[in-house]
Amino acid sequence: MIKRALTIAGSDSGGGAGIQADLKTFAALGVHGMSVITSITAQNTYEVRAVYDLPLNIIEAQFKAVVEDIGVDAAKTGMLSSSEIVKLVASLIKSYGLTVVVDPVMVAKSGSPLLKEDAVDALVKYLIPIATIVTPNKFEAEKLTGFTINSVDDARKAAKHIAEELGARAVVLKGGHIEGDEAIDILYYNGTYREFRAMRIHSRNTHGTGCSFSAAITAELAKGKNIEESVKVAKEFITTAIEYGLSLGKGCGPVNPIAWLTIPAEKFFVLENLQKAVEMLEEYGFLVAPLIPEVGMNIVMALPKPYAKNVNSVAGVMGRIVKIGNKVKASGPISFGASRHMARAVLKAMEFNERIRAAANIRFDEELVRIAESLGYSVSFYDRTQEPEEVKKVEGASIPWGIEQAVSKVGQVPDVVYHRGDWGKEPMINVFGFTAVDVVEKVLRIAKAYKEVKS
Ligand SMILES: Nc1ncnc2c1ncn2[C@@H]1O[C@H](COP(=O)(O)OP(=O)(O)OP(=O)(O)O)[C@@H](O)[C@H]1O
Ligand SMILES: [Mg+2]
Repeated sequence: MIKRALTIAGSDSGGGAGIQADLKTFAALGVHGMSVITSITAQNTYEVRAVYDLPLNIIEAQFKAVVEDIGVDAAKTGMLSSSEIVKLVASLIKSYGLTVVVDPVMVAKSGSPLLKEDAVDALVKYLIPIATIVTPNKFEAEKLTGFTINSVDDARKAAKHIAEELGARAVVLKGGHIEGDEAIDILYYNGTYREFRAMRIHSRNTHGTGCSFSAAITAELAKGKNIEESVKVAKEFITTAIEYGLSLGKGCGPVNPIAWLTIPAEKFFVLENLQKAVEMLEEYGFLVAPLIPEVGMNIVMALPKPYAKNVNSVAGVMGRIVKIGNKVKASGPISFGASRHMARAVLKAMEFNERIRAAANIRFDEELVRIAESLGYSVSFYDRTQEPEEVKKVEGASIPWGIEQAVSKVGQVPDVVYHRGDWGKEPMINVFGFTAVDVVEKVLRIAKAYKEVKS
């Protein structure tokens, strides 16, 4: 049975934070998400233009409608706006005995207040004492404790205070706004501390970090994980969501909770496509064998943007594809990071056309170039003897330089790029395409025509 998570929070019309972030996070973590909307905000990436608090009876009705029918494995609270809403929500949670993550939201990313001054007292009095976990950021923790928080040590003291003096079962004091090379979150629970660390990501697109983080903890609690495990997953989850944040709007763009789902799905698609491509090459080995270069052939395919970042986001064949008599064979498994050279060629091509995500290398032969042209493929080249000294000096820079040369000659990423080699460098042809299978189809057409010419 799918687990059920409930968010009690405000709506963010910009889709970055609030209910919208929570529901995306619940979906990405595989739980059924439900919502009790407390306030409607007219909000975008840089400002909150208007706030409308829903009437208390409508908030209560939403809550009872879902709790009495669907049921809730864990809940979270976000923007609660006024002391009346805080009191109502606290009493509902208490009377149904829900596990609840309290995100004590006080201001929006853009700086606008989301909680009225007097509501902080209600939060402390009614909600924090019944919280399973409270997730304040630096400013919220300062407000709740009266301490100044500028270091991990300060954060530890404040976390302990919120648990022991204010009555929360556990506290995660988030380090997003505490300076340092790492974003360090402090969990205080059962008299002990745990730290969750990640490298600080330098990004503007952090709208919704706090909401998505507390929603992720809630989803994991709903699935039956304990407090520590839930925070651990949520930390990994939010780091990914920030890393792949979306550059939208004029202000702080939304984080990307769906990255958590998309990356594994895209990896699977790439591996499956490459597998099929390699099977096709092996099946038509009698055609392909004459095209295998001395150094072996590789075929690679990259994750789509924005997930394609470096050679580890590009899959290829470990140990390359080799010729054995008139057959060809992959000499190792398919994996990400397996090829450096071809991966760099594709990453460079993607800078000009992000849809071109795959490539293979075949032996250089004037005849093969002529055939590619006669089949209607766009063909370009670069001259390795012209490679500038400063490019030669940088490890891994030669191929991207060459691809850029070839692209600029024809004003697009061509199907085929060749070079005639240099001292100690075998001449080579690269074939580009949308997918690995697409590349193999081109290679097979060229190989078939080559066989006809040669026989
Ligand atoms: N630049 C960053 N790089 C890596 N992790 C970050 C960064 N900023 C925030 N985090 C992490 O994101 C989570 C949310 O923390 P943060 O302190 O930003 O919450 P918040 O201020 O409540 O966010 P919001 O303003 O969206 O409500 C924490 O796990 C924190 O460590
Ligand atoms: Mg927050």
